[in-house]
Amino acid sequence: MLRSADCGSLKGENAGDQVTLAGWIGRRRDHGGIIFLDLRDRSGAVQVVFNPENAADATRIAEEVRGEWVVQVKGTVNKRPNGMENSSIPTGDIEVMVDEITVLNRSLTPPFYIEEDAEADESLRLRYRYLDLRRPPMLRNLTLRHNVVKYIRDFLSNRDFLEIETPILIKSTPEGARDFLVPSRMQPGNFYALPQSPQQMKQLLMVSGVERYFQIARCFRDEDLRADRQLEFTQLDLEMSFVEEDDILDLTEKLYTGMIESVTPEKILRKPFPRITYDEAMERYASDKPDLRFGLEMTDVSDLASETEFRVFLSTVEGGGQIKGFVVPGQAQFVTGQVKELEDTSKAAGAGGLAYIRYRGTNPVGQLTDEEILQSAGLRMPAEWHQRLADKMGAGPGDMILLMAGRQPRLNTWLSAMRTHVAELLELTDPDELAFAFVTRFPLFDWNEDAKRWDSTHHPFTSPEEGQESELDGEDLGAIKSKAYDLVCNGSELASGSIRIHNRQLQEKIFAILGHTKEETESQFGQILEAFEYGAPPHGGIAPGIDRLVAILCNSPSIRDVIAFPKTQSGTDLLFDAPTPVAQSQLDELYLETVKKPE
Ligand code: AMO
Repeated sequence: MLRSADCGSLKGENAGDQVTLAGWIGRRRDHGGIIFLDLRDRSGAVQVVFNPENAADATRIAEEVRGEWVVQVKGTVNKRPNGMENSSIPTGDIEVMVDEITVLNRSLTPPFYIEEDAEADESLRLRYRYLDLRRPPMLRNLTLRHNVVKYIRDFLSNRDFLEIETPILIKSTPEGARDFLVPSRMQPGNFYALPQSPQQMKQLLMVSGVERYFQIARCFRDEDLRADRQLEFTQLDLEMSFVEEDDILDLTEKLYTGMIESVTPEKILRKPFPRITYDEAMERYASDKPDLRFGLEMTDVSDLASETEFRVFLSTVEGGGQIKGFVVPGQAQFVTGQVKELEDTSKAAGAGGLAYIRYRGTNPVGQLTDEEILQSAGLRMPAEWHQRLADKMGAGPGDMILLMAGRQPRLNTWLSAMRTHVAELLELTDPDELAFAFVTRFPLFDWNEDAKRWDSTHHPFTSPEEGQESELDGEDLGAIKSKAYDLVCNGSELASGSIRIHNRQLQEKIFAILGHTKEETESQFGQILEAFEYGAPPHGGIAPGIDRLVAILCNSPSIRDVIAFPKTQSGTDLLFDAPTPVAQSQLDELYLETVKKPE
């Protein structure tokens, strides 16, 4: 070994030890001929000291070394002199008095500082990702990610799950997102697809009698990227036979609570995790992934709003829309600038506007005079009406009511954006608190207005709610609920799953509703339909996204910070410079030609 101890592990009790350390040079300070260097390895940093009186050769070399050079030092651990301790680092009580230094490698001057919180442009960080990952916060993220995955593997292995790898080259089937395609050289003109998730494979493993499967699975989806989306990402994919919804949710909850308690100091706000239905989530929070760290719950006031003469409210309700909003407690005095910001947010989200009512004063609302109600345009209503509105919404003196008008589902989208924005303005969230919840009973289908057809809300393998199968022959397909569930946390969807269909006839009926012809269904899904005829057990599962979970645990705004080598928003790998054109000979081998993208 090139070292006898890790830099970050040295403490007061090591005083007097002879050590050999190896690592990278961080900051340096020179004081009257004595040189102090920070020596850093993965475990942390320690101060190493060169005194020309005891170690003339070593000090001469220390004068030459620069930031990020790789060195080995031999020396003695000393307690720092009284008053010279540095309580901000774990090794701050000691320093290493160096006898010998060997330069193991030199470094160019890095394009940014390799420090705790060095601010650098993200594209520069991605271009030099190996240097970015050398920064302590990034190494901590990678370590946390490792601990999360290790916990998952141990937890599930202890419960009789088998970790099974499934292929990366599979068949292209329509499953929601766009597939990445891989041309076949041996069968020119034919393509594999990279899996969007191992969904069909894990179900087939249940038909095989595996009963409890998991995999830390890489998934590929050719979709537009956002802070919480990458082209390739990782799921904990799991599936179980002979289970019901509660079994999967209980297992998932145990896994998350145990894991979080073991890998981070973060606080889970509510245990057991609340379980709310999709309808309730939409009604109360206008979102199927509500942030439950704060209230700001919605109330539908369409009936009261239609008593006003406010044109926007009246025409919305007449046109089948709703007037819905929430109370911002104690914020009647929201300053004008903030209200303007709220209005801008609602407009940016596509909403017509925002009606706000401030209840000033300390009197009970019923006794408010007209002057005490600062009304938004159009809401010039008597105090008695305001009393009813305040009662219905649970508002009191000093509170502010925000209302929006529109048709669903867009109204909920606007309201949810507004709810999040108000919480940010009022700093209602603490990033160290985790508010998990299961959202259950999603609709089985969503109406796709653009394509004029029904889509699966989750995916086509999701089972309808017990007793609703007969409604698949009816008109009101939007009313059918499913056995699909999501795990949400702090406003993000972390996991998604369902109890599956395991019966060929029912599965075929779903494909027909989704608009697949018999031939398409057979050619794309024949394998799983056939498998269902050979004793498929009842089964279900879930797939937690690992990147999103780790990003939340690291308080990172983007999953890029918890992935070693991520892509940019435009899908580029800045380090390897991918994607790139390939040699004509490679295309020839595949019998492929490229055509220019039209301007
Ligand atoms: P779903 O498509 O909802 O379900 O994905 C499950 C979880 O994977 C994560 N996720 C992503 N993370 C990063 N980048 C992306 N582009 C991305 N897309 C999804 C999310 C999400 O909750 N086969 C089903 C699961 C099942 O039914 O068992 C599936 O893949 O955290």
